[in-house]
Amino acid sequence: VLGWFYVYPVYRLPSDKEIVEEVLGLGEVWQKNQTGIDLYRTLLTECCNPKWMFSLTKENSPIGKVLWYDGEFYHSHTVNNETYSIFVQSNPLNFPLKKCAVVGNGGILRNSRCGQEIDQADFIMRCNLPPLTKKYMEDVGTKTHLVTANPSIIEKRFQNLLWSRKSFVDIMKAYGSSFIYMPAFSMKPGTDPSLRAYYALADSSSNLTMLFANPDFLHSVSKFWKSRGVHGKRLSTGLFLVTLALGLCDEVTAYGFWPFSVDLQEKPISHHYYDNILPDKWFHAMPEEFVKLWQLHKSGALRMRVGHCP
Ligand code: CDP
Repeated sequence: VLGWFYVYPVYRLPSDKEIVEEVLGLGEVWQKNQTGIDLYRTLLTECCNPKWMFSLTKENSPIGKVLWYDGEFYHSHTVNNETYSIFVQSNPLNFPLKKCAVVGNGGILRNSRCGQEIDQADFIMRCNLPPLTKKYMEDVGTKTHLVTANPSIIEKRFQNLLWSRKSFVDIMKAYGSSFIYMPAFSMKPGTDPSLRAYYALADSSSNLTMLFANPDFLHSVSKFWKSRGVHGKRLSTGLFLVTLALGLCDEVTAYGFWPFSVDLQEKPISHHYYDNILPDKWFHAMPEEFVKLWQLHKSGALRMRVGHCP
């Protein structure tokens, strides 16, 4: 059956309504496709080598290596004694990762009751230090193995960690002993706050492990999607994580990816499960990304949960 991907001779992004109709049309049916999973793992290994590249390690980034910022032109950082000393020795994940859950922050998660299912995954990834309080537990779960933290969050929510670090350290306890994945070398102004976040955790004997995103990896993943028609200025955090998961995990389920203003019953929903602060429209291309993710869902390479969990 041809969906809206093929109907229009001149490509145009489907409207929210068309997407709702398409998703409803397919229903809950989903069939895993091992060939599709293997194909994506091979493509991603070839372009981006996630197992070796996803974070900066002492092994892949020795002293003297030049790191080119992926979010800015002609800015670089040369690894020195200080930066080298805060990189992990080598890839810290235990492969193979079996069932992975990637949790986006979409408002579609509200009242989804997906928490239990998410918590049953072997490896759970979340975006941008989302709230995991009791209020949301039933819908989003409680466990985390890797969570991203954008340096801009450090700036906005924690006064750049130039004042008290207590509220940061306290809030981070919600993520147990997971990995914090920070793009410290994507934009120049993000480096210092990221290093402060590292030291705030280290000085408080936190159980969390800081991983710095490797700008070469972020760059190669962007190129991978650009060549497949995702045109945003920057990929969304969620698409990065799904891509990472496709490269590392045996099976991927994505939750909370639904950048539309209505749910499947066409009831209005908030942008995030915890607030309704909208993104800068021109920065990411979330609906376009959704179309890609939905294609992967239809082909059986990953599973998207966009409604209620059983
Ligand atoms: O940093 P960014 O603005 O990309 O992310 P966020 O708003 O914290 O949400 C995390 C991720 O969830 C996004 O990067 C998107 O991939 C996804 N998301 C979505 O698909 N639909 C929404 N309504 C909100 C977020």
